[in-house]
Amino acid sequence: MKHKILEGKKGIIFGALDEQSIAWKTAESVADAGGAFVLTNAPVALRMGTIKTLAKKTDSQVVAADATNIDDLNALIDQAQETLGGKLDFILHSIGMSVNVRKGKNYTDLNHDWMTKGWDISAVSFHKLMQCLYKKDAMNPWGSIVAFSYIASQRTFPNYNDMADNKAYLESIARSFGYFFGKEKKVRVNTISQSPTLTTAGKGVEGLDGFLKYAEKMSPLGNATAKECADYTVSLFSDYTRKVTLQNLFHDGGFSNVGVSQDIIDSL
Ligand SMILES: NC(=O)c1ccc[n+]([C@@H]2O[C@H](COP(=O)([O-])OP(=O)(O)OC[C@H]3O[C@@H](n4cnc5c(N)ncnc54)[C@H](O)[C@@H]3O)[C@@H](O)[C@H]2O)c1
Repeated sequence: MKHKILEGKKGIIFGALDEQSIAWKTAESVADAGGAFVLTNAPVALRMGTIKTLAKKTDSQVVAADATNIDDLNALIDQAQETLGGKLDFILHSIGMSVNVRKGKNYTDLNHDWMTKGWDISAVSFHKLMQCLYKKDAMNPWGSIVAFSYIASQRTFPNYNDMADNKAYLESIARSFGYFFGKEKKVRVNTISQSPTLTTAGKGVEGLDGFLKYAEKMSPLGNATAKECADYTVSLFSDYTRKVTLQNLFHDGGFSNVGVSQDIIDSL
């Protein structure tokens, strides 16, 4: 990225597991744009993943935090402010997990304990995170908070399973908390609804390959890649989007507004 549009800005990036992760690409793009950050993931993911490589590359510190645990979140926010030297300007919530998806449970046969766990990790963690930031007054005015969503929150994609409900909840939290964050702290809160993307979380969804091909044929601009999502996120962290808030922003090559494409008709 040629323009250092995040020069002087500081933040926290959740969810970089491996090189495919959208958060990984975002960390690289944010660093290229001049932003400084702390990387974080769940302790188990830090043991399994390769985040240290990313930390070295982007000259950033890694702090373990389970995003469902308030004590972990408070300690993370304190540590990030100490390391980066003051209040924060941007936060990326790039977290998703469904036990039912992982274990191949159909939507009509959900394990509701697993459903609750997936909801806590994928959606409620966003509220917990914002509540901790809000109470600590840890965000600078005109800061920006972004979480990643998927269109299954608003349209039916059967194999997306209980993650569809989690994403609907996540998008609602962005609007509800975004109101208070805007009014009281002048901070933006948005979700980005990204194209299907080949990542560890993405691969867990049954038939992702079909999703990807279908979306590619439907989208006039084609599917958005993880790197393109990263660059879009940088724009939302920058000062060029200061009055964008409470939005679910589609970053999907136009998929969400197409009824049917000629490519799909031709393939039938
Ligand atoms: N891949 C896709 O097709 C796609 C499309 C739209 C939106 N998204 C969303 O993008 C986000 C990032 O997913 P990804 O595709 O890069 O996959 P990913 O598997 O690389 O990232 C998911 C991350 O969530 C983290 N996580 C899980 N439980 C956690 C916990 N308790 N505390 C903290 N972190 C935890 C994982 O360790 C992992 O780093 C998710 O919200 C996902 O739903 C993905």
